[in-house]
Amino acid sequence: MENQGQDERKVAVITGAASGLGAALAHHANTLGYDLALADIAPLDGSQYENAMTSQVDVTQPDQMEEFAQCVYGQFDRCDYLFNNAGIMRPGRSWDQPRSHWDAVMAVNFSGTVNGVRAFAPRMTSSGRAGRIVNTASLSGLIAAPGLGAYGVSKHAVIAFSEILSMELSEAGSGIDVSVICAGAIDTDIMTSAVASLAEGNDAKAQASAMQMALGTKAVGAAPSDIAKTVFEQADQGRFWIRPLNEPVGAVAKRAAQIEAGDPPVFSGWE
Ligand SMILES: NC(=O)c1ccc[n+]([C@@H]2O[C@H](COP(=O)([O-])OP(=O)(O)OC[C@H]3O[C@@H](n4cnc5c(N)ncnc54)[C@H](O)[C@@H]3O)[C@@H](O)[C@H]2O)c1
Repeated sequence: MENQGQDERKVAVITGAASGLGAALAHHANTLGYDLALADIAPLDGSQYENAMTSQVDVTQPDQMEEFAQCVYGQFDRCDYLFNNAGIMRPGRSWDQPRSHWDAVMAVNFSGTVNGVRAFAPRMTSSGRAGRIVNTASLSGLIAAPGLGAYGVSKHAVIAFSEILSMELSEAGSGIDVSVICAGAIDTDIMTSAVASLAEGNDAKAQASAMQMALGTKAVGAAPSDIAKTVFEQADQGRFWIRPLNEPVGAVAKRAAQIEAGDPPVFSGWE
């Protein structure tokens, strides 16, 4: 799925496309010649792209995702790339986080991804065309960090879901492949709303220090445009695990060693 010719334009569907990584994926797909179907709970401006349809969609609502998929197939009759990308972060210690934060994070990050797959995968598989589903997880989905609470749990769930989905689509001979993005820090608005959410916590000070502990060793965020370009490159290479900045995964090996030895978990940073 590289640069598109005029005669066969392919379609990229992207959720969370109003800002950050989603917007960068949309811009990059546009430069590659894709037609775009963009969804976000926030208003979207499709005029900046060559050919884009935009929909205000709450990914937590299965009916809205289903209606969005109907509109996409009504307009383009295909989906070559599905990016389940919408996400939120509500950091804090597990017991300090308000229950509403747990529910919101799991609903957007995990259920939103499931809703996207349930709405689009049947249409993609029955089209008989090759396609790819790209779910945005995070390095937080590979490394369990204290202080990120529901966010880390939701991203672990996205990774497990993506692995299962990949195997199932392969076993079904669907022609649809799966990738999962395990990015480290990206310079987007997600932290702004995360920090704002701390004020709503049961113990805001404890949550703030928990988040600082979790993120303390994270590097300054990368430019979303750089990440988006690499995501397309790695997805086009057929990679399941997308690590846009070649994020280190030594912590995964350390975790396996802890499991093997029966040792309790110890967070030793993002590497
Ligand atoms: N920024 C990082 O450091 C980082 C690192 C790894 C992974 N990610 C992931 O990247 C993805 C994009 O996040 P971002 O960093 O670009 O943040 P962002 O806040 O800039 O963008 C997230 C977008 O999702 C939309 N959204 C939120 N709730 C929604 C809902 N219910 N329905 C539809 N849209 C909704 C927002 O309106 C926003 O446009 C997320 O899944 C995030 O977890 C981010």
